[in-house]
Order: sequence, then structure tokens, then C-alpha cells
Amino acid sequence: MSTEHEMRRRAAITAVGHYVPDKILSNFDLEKMVATTDEWIRTRTGIRERRIIEHGATSDMAAKAIEMLIVNRGISVEEIDLIVVATVTPDMFFPSTACLVQQKIGAKKAWGFDLSGACSGFIYALVTGAQFIEAGTYKKVVVVGSDKMSAITDYSDRNTCILFGDAAAAVLLEPSNDPAFGIIDHRLYSDGSGAPYLYMKGGGSLNPPTHETVDKNMHTLYQDGKAVFKVAVIGMADVSEEIMKANNLTGKDIDYLVPHQANLRIIDACRERMGLDPSKVMINIDKYGNTTAATIPLCLSEWWHCGKLKRGHTLVLSSFGAGYTWGAVLVKWSVNNPNKP
Ligand code: UT7
Repeated sequence: MSTEHEMRRRAAITAVGHYVPDKILSNFDLEKMVATTDEWIRTRTGIRERRIIEHGATSDMAAKAIEMLIVNRGISVEEIDLIVVATVTPDMFFPSTACLVQQKIGAKKAWGFDLSGACSGFIYALVTGAQFIEAGTYKKVVVVGSDKMSAITDYSDRNTCILFGDAAAAVLLEPSNDPAFGIIDHRLYSDGSGAPYLYMKGGGSLNPPTHETVDKNMHTLYQDGKAVFKVAVIGMADVSEEIMKANNLTGKDIDYLVPHQANLRIIDACRERMGLDPSKVMINIDKYGNTTAATIPLCLSEWWHCGKLKRGHTLVLSSFGAGYTWGAVLVKWSVNNPNKP
């Protein structure tokens, strides 16, 4: 293989899968739990309902998403080389959720690790996984975003409990058979000065669990929504515009914006900056709320399954979240759904 060819090897997403729990928590259910209304939640966020897992953990949802992906691609789990799990709700600190997933799906030849990038976790993990394909190290890398946000949500806090839900979704990365297809470019950022605005204070090495941390409710997430909104609305639009400009693309060249689903108003601002028609945005926040690392692959999987996402489509994946972390990935989609021509 020539050096030139080596340099052109790209990672392509060749299969998708997802899992959402059956239990629905609607805005009307939340009206009975905290001082809120369906109208407030819908108009401020775009969310109507979210899913809650009743039995099981982050690894169980991730395993189910990967099992769907394996069936879609028609491969054996033993072909998987690496599993990268993006999550902020690991089953436990250690072993990694990736190890638990590896065992649950029976991927005997795979190793894996967890990656903590909050709402940008999936795109961080996607770019990380792609490096192993582009370097020629591996042929099949699974990247899964899975979060059981209900495990760290305070259902007496109306500022946050209306926002989050549980889900998992996965993609398979393989070497692209055509260098024009696959993961084309990325821009990733972080800024730790954002930490105090969206975080979980207790449970880690800074504030290990004690009776006091439990009494002070330090094991659920805290968000200063207004502060995060202000930076997210600019940050996600800026990075999406940046990746378009760097690749000489205008709104007409983009088939879909695949945004992190935190707030419909943030998504709309990003879409407008990119000069896109509303029909060119993948939105499922109404059904699932913010599922953190799962939002972007969940969109990809749902749109592929119904046949709306097709080979040749140009996508911008874009996110902003805790850290702060943010970024965008440019993808030329490479796989049709044979059941949905
Ligand atoms: O995914 C990770 C990144 N996260 C984000 O991108 C989230 C960014 N932030 C947001 O999406 C929005 O800030 C929220 C949806 C969290 C909040 O919307 P907002 O328009 O920024 O509302 P606010 O926090 O400024 O609150 C406005 C009012 C307040 O009352 P006062 O002070 O004006 O009397 C809140 O107390 O709405 C009140 N409020 C509620 N009312 C009914 C806050 N939560 C609720 C609620 N129901 N659930």
C-alpha cells in the first residue's frame, strides 16, 4: 500500500443502532412532581417527553444499542476490535463501562475504554475512534454514547429534572472504501472555566461520598441554565460555522445538521447561523429530551432506520456541553438502508 493511499484512509460510519427504554416520563407526569407546566417546558426547551430506564444501567442500554448495530451490519461481535463508551453516568467508577459492555455483548477480541466528554462525549469519542481506523490499527471500532441521566437527576429540582432522559446509541467505524466518504474533518474544544455552571459536585475524589455529601444533595447534577444557555447558543453556532468555512461549504451543501439535543432554541440558533432550512435538521428532543452522550448517534440511527439518511449526504454533527466541551464533525455519509430504498 502506498504512503499516499495510507494518508487518504478515512474512517466511515458503516452501521448504527440505538436503544431507548419503554417507560415514558411526560411533561404532564412532571407537572405532578414539581411546579412546572407542559407549556413552559415545551416553549422553553422543545421537550414533550423523555424515557427512563427502570431496571438496568448505562452498560445495559449500550449493549442493546450495539446488538442492533451488529444485526444491521451483519457481522459477528467477535470482529469488533475496540469499544469506546462515551458517558458521564458509568455503571461505576471502575471497571470501565466499556469492559462491562464488552462482556455483555460477548466481544471476546475487543478492548475498550470510557470517555468523559458530557454532551460532547459522542463526538469526542467518534473522533478518537476514527484515529484507530485512519492509522490502520483497527478495522472495526464501536463508538457508543450511553447515559442513564435519571441516575443523577434530582426529581425535586424543576430547573433540571425536566431536561434529561435515558438512552444509548452506537455507530460502527470501518475503513472507508472511498476516500470521499467518511469522517472528513473535525473541530473540538474544551474550556474548564465552565465547570461551575454544569457539574456534579459529589462522589469523585474532590468530594468523596459521605453522609454530608448525601444530605447536601451533591450526587445529582447542578446546572446554571441561563449561564450555559448563553455560551452554548454562541459556541455551537460558532463551531458549526467554522467547520463549514474551513471546508468551503454553505448551507446549500449541507443535507443535515445533527445537533446535540439540549434545547430547541439552541438548535434553531445554530441552524440559522448555518443558513439551513428547518427540514435539514435532525430533531428528536421532543421525544427523548437531553440524553447527553446519546443524542447525536440516536438521531443518526433513527434517521437511517427510516431511510431519510442516505449515502452521499453531507452532515455536520455539532454539540456543546459540560466542561465546557464543544465541537463539530463533518461527515459524508456512506451507507444506505437496504430496507428503505
Ligand atoms: O446539554 C448540556 C448543555 N446544557 C444546555 O445547553 C442547557 C442550556 N440552558 C437551557 O436550555 C435553559 O437555560 C433552560 C431550559 C435550562 C432554562 O430556560 P431559561 O429560559 O433560561 O429559563 P430561566 O432559567 O432563565 O428561568 C426563567 C424562569 C425563572 O423564574 P423567574 O426567576 O423568572 O421568576 C425560573 O425559576 O422560569 C422559571 N423556571 C421554571 N418555570 C416552570 C425554571 N424552570 C422551570 C420549570 N417550570 N421547569
